[in-house]
Formats: sequence, C-alpha cells, structure tokens
Amino acid sequence: MKLAVLVVTALLLLAVVVSSQRRGTERAQGMEKPPMGRTDAEKRILGVIDDARRAGRVHLEVPDADGRMLRVLAESINAKEAVEIGTSTGYSGLWLSLALQTTGGKLTTFEIDAGRAAQARKHFQQAGVDGIVTVIEGDAHKNLQQVKAPVDLVFIDAEKEGYPDYLKQMLPKVRPGGLILAHNIDMAPEYVTAVTTNPELETVFYMEGRGLGITLKKR
Ligand SMILES: C[S@@+](CC[C@H](N)C(=O)[O-])C[C@H]1O[C@@H](n2cnc3c(N)ncnc32)[C@H](O)[C@@H]1O
Repeated sequence: MKLAVLVVTALLLLAVVVSSQRRGTERAQGMEKPPMGRTDAEKRILGVIDDARRAGRVHLEVPDADGRMLRVLAESINAKEAVEIGTSTGYSGLWLSLALQTTGGKLTTFEIDAGRAAQARKHFQQAGVDGIVTVIEGDAHKNLQQVKAPVDLVFIDAEKEGYPDYLKQMLPKVRPGGLILAHNIDMAPEYVTAVTTNPELETVFYMEGRGLGITLKKR
C-alpha cells in the first residue's frame, strides 16, 4: 500500500515537472520571431540556412533554437577562434558563422564523413563564409591535435561516446572565460558528470530539443 502511494506521488510530481517544462517551451516559442538579417552578409547566411533546411541538405542538424543560441553565445563572448566537432553538412557551422563574420572570428570544423564535409564546404561557399571556415576531414580524435590554443569556443556535436575525449583534448586549449558547448547532452552522461563535477567549470543546460550543455571555463 505504502509503495503504491509513493509510486503515485512520484508520477504526479513527474507530470507536474514535465507539464511546466512544456509550458516553458511553448511560451518561449510563442514569443520568439524568426531571425532577421540586418546586413547583406547576415541575410545571405540566413538565406542558405533556410534553403539547406527546406531542400533537406541537412543531416542530424541542430534545431533552430539551438543554432540561434550558438550564435548568441559566440557573438556575446566576441569569439575569434571557434572549433566545432561534428560538422555534418554545415548547418550549425552556418549559425556560428553569423556570429564570427561579425566578431572577425574563424571557425575550424571537423567531420569524418567525406560526403557531408563536401556539402558543408558548398554551404559555406554559398553563404560567403568559406574564407572564415575551415573544414577538416577525418577523425576528430586524431585531428584535434592540430588545434592551437587559445580557443574561445568549442561546440561538440559528434558521436556521443567520444564527448569525454573531446573535452579532455580541448579543455586545456580553451581560454579562461571561454565556452564549451555540447549538443544532445542527454545522451552523454559521462560528459555531463565531467563538466558538472569540475570546480574549474560552471555548467548550465539549455533544454530545447535534446539539450545543449553550456560550460564556462572560469577565469
Ligand atoms: C549530429 S551530426 C552533426 C550535426 C551538425 N553539428 C549540425 O548541426 O549540422 C554528427 C556528425 O559527427 C560526425 N562524426 C562522428 N564521429 C566523428 C569523428 N570521430 N570525427 C569527426 N566527425 C565525426 C558524423 O559523421 C556526423 O556528421
């Protein structure tokens, strides 16, 4: 009997939490408007983002809410050196480019699949950001050695079991005050433990879709 009461109470609590989270998401979506380009450069990138999604030239891409968050974070820390692990066809890279073409920054992005890397290069060219984005093809676990410090922002969005190694390799290269962002963190529990138990880091989670981990490397 006691167990049944406990189970019912736990289920009720869960329902309240889930429904309040849903309400939060609906409210946010109702308030937001699609991004508006201010400059021609911005409009051109947004045009390619829109076109890539409509034409289906995307693969496991970030939801637009996360793409916009990537842009806001990169631009607000005035990122000059950004690294992305898991380019796919360049969708999240285009969102990051919106920030970097404003800050005068560069993106180095890593992709193991040759076809996706080729499509990403085309998207960056169409968006006019191929001069600030370098796609490095091959296994990021090996190729990350090429990255030189200091890095302002890292976005991790490749195979989930690789996240702890990506963090281990990149953390020493991120400048104090820099950001480490990780996508689909609900699928990377080891990574979540690593970023939430290190006193050098401060981590919050932006729970649109599968969740974006936002980690500050303290100064
Ligand atoms: C979730 S998708 C990335 C989506 C992309 N960030 C976007 O929003 O458009 C993950 C990508 O990581 C790539 N990947 C997986 N393992 C990798 C590795 N070891 N090195 C580099 N890329 C890898 C996959 O080929 C895939 O294209």
